[in-house]
Amino acid sequence: MAELHHETFPPPESVKNEAFINSMEQYKEMYQKSIDDPEGFWSEIAKGFYWESEPTGKFLDFNFDVRNGPIYIKWMQGAKTNLCYNAVDRHIDKDGDRLAFYWEGNDPDDDGQVTFSELKDRVCQFANVLKSLGVVKGDRVAIYMPMIVDITVAMLACARLGIIHSIVFGGFSAESLADRILDAKCSVVITSDGVWRGTKLLNLKDIVDKAVEKCEHVGHIVEHVIVSRHLLPEEIVVGEGDEERQPAVRPCRHLNIKWNAPRDKWWHELIEGASTDCPCVWLDAEDPLFMLYTSGSTGKPKGVVHTQAGYMLYSATTFKYDFDYHPDDIFWCTADVGWITGHTYVTYGPLLNKATSVIFEGVPTYPDPGRFWQIVDKYKVSKFYTAPTAIRSLMGFGDEHVTKYKRDSLKVIATVGEPINPEAWLWYYNVVGNKKCAVVDTFWQTETGGHVITPLPGATPTRPGSATFPFFGVVPEILSEDGKTVEGEGEGYIVFKQPWPGIMRTVYGNPQRFETTYFKKFPGYYTTGDGGKRDKDGYIWVTGRIDDMVNVSAHLLSTAEIESALVEHKLVTEAAVVSHPHKIKGECTYCFVTLKQGNKFTADLIHELRAQVRTKIGPFATPDFIQEAPGLPKTRSGKIMRRVLRKIAVGDKDIGDVSTMADETVVDELFKRRPEDA
Ligand code: PRX
Repeated sequence: MAELHHETFPPPESVKNEAFINSMEQYKEMYQKSIDDPEGFWSEIAKGFYWESEPTGKFLDFNFDVRNGPIYIKWMQGAKTNLCYNAVDRHIDKDGDRLAFYWEGNDPDDDGQVTFSELKDRVCQFANVLKSLGVVKGDRVAIYMPMIVDITVAMLACARLGIIHSIVFGGFSAESLADRILDAKCSVVITSDGVWRGTKLLNLKDIVDKAVEKCEHVGHIVEHVIVSRHLLPEEIVVGEGDEERQPAVRPCRHLNIKWNAPRDKWWHELIEGASTDCPCVWLDAEDPLFMLYTSGSTGKPKGVVHTQAGYMLYSATTFKYDFDYHPDDIFWCTADVGWITGHTYVTYGPLLNKATSVIFEGVPTYPDPGRFWQIVDKYKVSKFYTAPTAIRSLMGFGDEHVTKYKRDSLKVIATVGEPINPEAWLWYYNVVGNKKCAVVDTFWQTETGGHVITPLPGATPTRPGSATFPFFGVVPEILSEDGKTVEGEGEGYIVFKQPWPGIMRTVYGNPQRFETTYFKKFPGYYTTGDGGKRDKDGYIWVTGRIDDMVNVSAHLLSTAEIESALVEHKLVTEAAVVSHPHKIKGECTYCFVTLKQGNKFTADLIHELRAQVRTKIGPFATPDFIQEAPGLPKTRSGKIMRRVLRKIAVGDKDIGDVSTMADETVVDELFKRRPEDA
């Protein structure tokens, strides 16, 4: 087992003193109860929420073993509740004036705030709008919006009515958005005119127009595109009233958007006069709440489905304990709501805990690399949550951008999305946290709904790079390739043995894929796709994906998806993409491309191939390295030997056993053609 960083950091006294869970003994006792008696443990927690009616069937019913029939997971069957009610309405009587969100714009001069009462009114108005458009329980609505309060309003309005939201991150291309609209058959898309990200202006409406057009080409009609006015100045009127008019391009201060009436509708016009009362639809515990696409190793994204009661209990409980949230805390999760981290820890988890949190539209380096810490001071943020890639990038700009700000409100500083290297962990702890904050490295996935392996800030002695121990209800195991349980110190596949409430329930429209992806390799277990180590003290260290996924800047990408984008280029016959270490992004993609006979591999072609991936998937997927591959290393049966390609990508000549390779000469050729900067 490779050397792990074994320095241990006890929880800071100040954090421990006020923590809900302040010792490992208390954690262990609660943990044991949560796995011995899940019903007892979670039903106690459920008492803190509003239920229109109690469960009628088993509190927990599941099958995790494909050998015993179809996989299913059901929590609190028959109970009726509403997540929006629990996240918003429940707090109004006593705490309506409490702030739900501080909104901080891309520009440091743009900000706003919203109380729980105001949020409730806005959610109800928008829910009434959705109703008036004929959208009902079970329908799917796509949301493609920036980080503004309206994105949470849109989500909560859907949740209020049992409409399944499918949020697509605003960095995805029109093609990716269209694929997701089509897969879920969404009849409504909610978007904004545009957004600034640092100095970059993104015309979201234009991307939605292109996506909707693509859907139309294959016969799927999006009936309504609702546009929240974000950037266009009030005085500019686009498409108002004139239903006959052809789509028009109107100039405005920052961007041009086209208007296609009657399909396109302004959010602010729709809510005019809409009532601020809208009864909640009481939903079954296992009714779907949302779907969220995540990369799949076949290249086609999977619509991960989460349901009502289990997700509610789990998002709320992980938020409370893992950030140790108390009423006077200000919480800030920097993730975009378009990813699961934003679903669980920008919207649902905080609101269910009546938390006040920050929503930030911008990027960490605009107008300068001190932006995060300036915002921390501005709002006195005490619990802060970001990705290792942001930490590494800010580290590179120097400590002065951090130390310039006080940051004395910070208590818990957490990370998510990818393994954090000890160097970045230590910088976060020493410089950002001034050696007085608890660092909480949370491991989880879109599929797990919330944290599954995580320290508790007031209890767990941490080790830089380790996500430490399982959360309540989670039973991790490490398995060897042949499915044997690795006891004690060791390494292998990270799997989970029994369901916790927040686990996904299915892949939208494809239960078979749900079983094959997560339950087939090791019957009886949920397989994460990640590898990990357990040290002699039981600490778990997640080492990264061991399937064909690459984690670029905490965004999971499938190598197959990038390969299929590359081979769509007219000069490419074959492509193979592997992961390559990257100082800031953690990992990046390294692409081997075989051209059709007689074509030259030029700088222009590399440029085109990069553009191709941007168009097909989105800018965040742009490959870092592309090299020509006159041939690829393959087994005699034709399987690409990715293990060898990973070695070539990093320039490591020790490529291991090549006895199964059909033609070894391709390897030398590939080493010769490595780009100079790789
Ligand atoms: O490889 C793991 C990595 O991110 C993957 C999940 O990605 P996604 O579904 O997009 O969700 C990201 C936000 C929860 C995992 O399979 N990952 C996430 N958190 C960590 C991590 N790897 C190591 N340490 C973490 N803390």
